[in-house]
Amino acid sequence: MAMETERKDAAAILSVEHLSTSFFTSNGRVNAVRDVSFSLRQGEMLGIVGESGSGKTVSSLSILQLLGGSGRITDGKIIFDGTDLVSAPKKQLRNVRGARIAMVFQDPMSSLNPLMPVGKQIGEMIKTHQPKIKADELRSEVLRLLGLVHIPEPEKRYHSYPHEFSGGMRQRVMIAIALACKPDVLIADEPTTALDVTIQDQILKLLRSLRDEFQTSVIFITHDLGVVAELCSRVIVMYGGKIMEEALVDDLYENPAHPYTMGLLASVPNVAQDKQKRLQSIPGSPPDMIRPPAGCPFAPRCSYARNICGAQEAPRIQVGESHFSRCWLWVPEAPAENNPFRKAGGEA
Ligand SMILES: Nc1ncnc2c1ncn2[C@@H]1O[C@H](COP(=O)(O)OP(=O)(O)O)[C@@H](O)[C@H]1O
Ligand code: SF4
Ligand SMILES: [Mg+2]
Repeated sequence: MAMETERKDAAAILSVEHLSTSFFTSNGRVNAVRDVSFSLRQGEMLGIVGESGSGKTVSSLSILQLLGGSGRITDGKIIFDGTDLVSAPKKQLRNVRGARIAMVFQDPMSSLNPLMPVGKQIGEMIKTHQPKIKADELRSEVLRLLGLVHIPEPEKRYHSYPHEFSGGMRQRVMIAIALACKPDVLIADEPTTALDVTIQDQILKLLRSLRDEFQTSVIFITHDLGVVAELCSRVIVMYGGKIMEEALVDDLYENPAHPYTMGLLASVPNVAQDKQKRLQSIPGSPPDMIRPPAGCPFAPRCSYARNICGAQEAPRIQVGESHFSRCWLWVPEAPAENNPFRKAGGEA
């Protein structure tokens, strides 16, 4: 599972510190991301996992401040290469976007221009950051990128339009565009969710090989813990706009330290089962982020919830090496008869 080529001692290339992001809508303030902190090391593949609506996408869009008119970072810092992107001038942020931190989204069709051949679109991206590049150099760079993402017959495909590609091939084009400026960080937001399982595996393999070859740091966002296991070495579990648990992937699978993670794991088919088969999902639905619960956001769905859980947010507790959980069951003040972590060293 864990990537052998990853350097555990590498410095953080990106640090998100106490990030809070809200949308100010006519229905009220949507508190999408609430006090989220994490860091990403050089060459690391970090997974962010959680059900739909947990705040994964908004966290990543916040990094590049692509939040649209109603979204705003209300607190926190995003330190990239020594600079806080939240307080940095707009020009500096523009230089980072695409060139140094690039994103790949779930639906490539919505990001590609349907009226422009894909080769030209990749070329346009290169030109935004290398305006003086010569035409023949540009063409060979585009062909190199098409080859890099394993698009067959790049010379021919250069002139094809997005609708002439399959979903998987379109996602490869998006990855080529993302890699056009050799970014330090690639954020992939559910890039394989719309694809069938075989194509999904191919794209995951491609991302892994790119990480190995170029030491690109990757944030991989998914609702699927099974995908995280195949790709990432460390994982953050989000729910209700907050980080519930953070661990090395193997540790998360073997010793989940949060009831929400346990619920997610129960809904991941194991290797022997049909990958597309859905197992039980967690009963209930995610909280309303206009009026998020006062305490633990998972309390209304948690079968271990105590009184304190609904009233007060749990502290972030270190439960192992590089392993953190935000759950009252790790705190002696919240004893519980049915505490699943008691054997794992929980005091309750
Ligand atoms: N543009 C927006 N305006 C208002 N609310 C939004 C907007 N984008 C996301 N949200 C809300 O923010 C919360 C987190 O969303 P999101 O980050 O997209 O979740 P995830 O990616 O984990 O599925 C959700 O409650 C969602 O409805
Ligand atoms: S803090 Fe309480 S409600 Fe939240 S996950 Fe832990 S036990 Fe469940
Ligand atoms: Mg999302």
